[in-house]
Amino acid sequence: MSNTPFMTLERYIVDQERRHPEATGELSRLLSDLSIAAKIIARETTKAGLIEILGFSGSTNVHGESQKVLDLYAHDMLFKAMDHGGHLCVMASEEQEDIIHIPKQHRIGKYVLLFDPLDGSSNIDANVSIGTIFSIYTRISPDDGPGTLEDCLQPGYKQIAAGYVIYGSSTMLVYTTGSGVHGFTLDPSVGEFLLSHPNIKTPKKGRIYSINEGNYKYWHPGIKRYIKWLQEEDQKTSRPYSSRYIGSMVADIHRNLLYGGIFLYPGDSRNPQGKLRLMYECNPMAMIIEAAGGRASDGYKRILDIQPTSLHERAPIIIGSEEDVLMVEKFIAEADLNNED
Ligand code: AHG
Ligand code: MN
Ligand code: MN
Repeated sequence: MSNTPFMTLERYIVDQERRHPEATGELSRLLSDLSIAAKIIARETTKAGLIEILGFSGSTNVHGESQKVLDLYAHDMLFKAMDHGGHLCVMASEEQEDIIHIPKQHRIGKYVLLFDPLDGSSNIDANVSIGTIFSIYTRISPDDGPGTLEDCLQPGYKQIAAGYVIYGSSTMLVYTTGSGVHGFTLDPSVGEFLLSHPNIKTPKKGRIYSINEGNYKYWHPGIKRYIKWLQEEDQKTSRPYSSRYIGSMVADIHRNLLYGGIFLYPGDSRNPQGKLRLMYECNPMAMIIEAAGGRASDGYKRILDIQPTSLHERAPIIIGSEEDVLMVEKFIAEADLNNED
């Protein structure tokens, strides 16, 4: 018999809270509500191949991308799970243009929730891992009214919690409140998330790189030189690195978090701000990776220090093992200094 403690997500959250007597319990209830939405989305994603849920829904989201039925389902499910708990004052989703107010009949709380309901959704039809990403802030507007756009547009270093759910060969929920990163695996037979990865630390240096190399032609010269450098042979620096790219940010970063490595979605000459959204993707993943001992940058500065100006803005991102991210920053700085193109 294994001597690993039988620790459900619920029990873990409550235990953590007991260690912080000043905590009100609201954040715990918020995370617990989120885990319920995650279980329902997990249930639907595993059925995706069986029902008519596959295929395009026919509408387009604010980023001009086709939305799949499951994207919308996950968005609705998160809203429904989170609108009445009394902990939130406002929400924002990658799939909705404007901020989402809490319905009038429900109590308003002090937290702000931003989410990417389904990440990597172009992979659904191929049965490849997808995810949900969430980011939590404390409101800055007066607490007697509804939440505002300003509550949502806070820089990432102000997040009080962030996490993701990965719907893969198993479903996992990974979250941090800043000091440690904890991973829970869903036992589908009992419907509980069980602590499977306590206090995750990412290696300081990895041997994996993840980037869409189809964009090579459009990259910054520093990124081009860095990727070519990774492909050279050098035992001392464990090169060449292996290339792994799933095309679901959650899955690519989850793997690199555990094994070490680097994920890049840089800006390029066609899309100077890259592709990934600051509020729903870059900030929460950056908080998790930093809490695990890694680093997240836009090539020049820390992701978490970017002051957002709009809800759906994008940011270049280079994220993962600290030494690897530092090396990319060095290549970019050198290329800039030498005016390479
Ligand atoms: P989403 O499904 O939420 O729109 O996100 C897709 C993102 C991200 O998950 C992934 O890393 C990236 O798109 C892949 O983009 P490319 O196909 O351009 O490589
Ligand atoms: Mn996404
Ligand atoms: Mn999405």
